[in-house]
Amino acid sequence: DADADMRTRPPVVTIMGHVDHGKTSLLDALRSTSVAAGEAGGITQHIGAYQVTLPSGERMTFIDTPGHEAFTAMRARGAQVTDIVVLVVAADDGVMPQTIEAIRHAKAANVPIIVAINKIDRPDANPTRVRSELLQYDIAVEEMGGETQDVEVSALKREGLDRLQEAILLQAEILDLKANPDRSAEGAVIESRLDRGRGPVATILVQKGTLKQGDIVVAGTEQGRVRAMLDEHGKPVTSAGPSVPVEILGMSGVPSAGEAFVVVEDEGRAREIAEFRQRRLRETNAVAGAA
Ligand code: GTP
Ligand code: NA
Ligand code: MG
Repeated sequence: DADADMRTRPPVVTIMGHVDHGKTSLLDALRSTSVAAGEAGGITQHIGAYQVTLPSGERMTFIDTPGHEAFTAMRARGAQVTDIVVLVVAADDGVMPQTIEAIRHAKAANVPIIVAINKIDRPDANPTRVRSELLQYDIAVEEMGGETQDVEVSALKREGLDRLQEAILLQAEILDLKANPDRSAEGAVIESRLDRGRGPVATILVQKGTLKQGDIVVAGTEQGRVRAMLDEHGKPVTSAGPSVPVEILGMSGVPSAGEAFVVVEDEGRAREIAEFRQRRLRETNAVAGAA
């Protein structure tokens, strides 16, 4: 894409951290700050990715990974969906095995980390200890002379959320995230499922271009025409630009998380690509089975 066609896009943020350190609580708290969340009257369904629109109009996209495996699976498929990792560390518990694992994943993917020291409301909270523990894993926060941003938060009391959002926006500015919205869409499957009434449902993240209702897409071994698109509130939308997550209906089957999706010109071409990949997958499986 020519530079002139590039526009600033919202950052895509994944929240990671040890069990029970408050990832989901923090996501819920962040989501509650969204102006759109108030309008829709709460979240009725689970979706693996959603967008927060700040009162300032600035937007950020969060990916709610069910576990680090999903992150690893996506990376293994070559899907680099995250711009920033927010590493949640409980201030009372400190650095734990999955904290270390999350640091490794983020570093391997070359994704910058923002540390959210959570549960700061607890009487036994010790954020200083957290900062010095992180130093052992090559995470030097600003107070320790490093460049990693850290923010003390309480997901429970909804404290520090604005500072965390500011830290995300600052990091996004440093990364200078851009994409061309005026082209056919490309992106990645975040999660998918077979819905009894609606058939295959895929949550996808648009990374480049704009996805439109009626577009023909290929994702892994599946293809189809986008029959409908829904935002994270289940509200129908007709287009989705860079960094926007949407649920799409109309795929031939359920594509795997982490698969790339692309828009193609016609249905014949889409079927051709999907069938070729299905054939190759069968061959690979046959070889693996014989071994
Ligand atoms: P897993 O998804 O199971 O790994 O947990 P999680 O990291 O998503 O943590 P979750 O949000 O489920 O929170 C775990 C527990 O910590 C819950 O009992 C929360 O109420 C509590 N908790 C989360 N944030 C805070 C906080 O800021 N302060 C206090 N005191 N408790 C919190
Ligand atoms: Na939990
Ligand atoms: Mg959780």
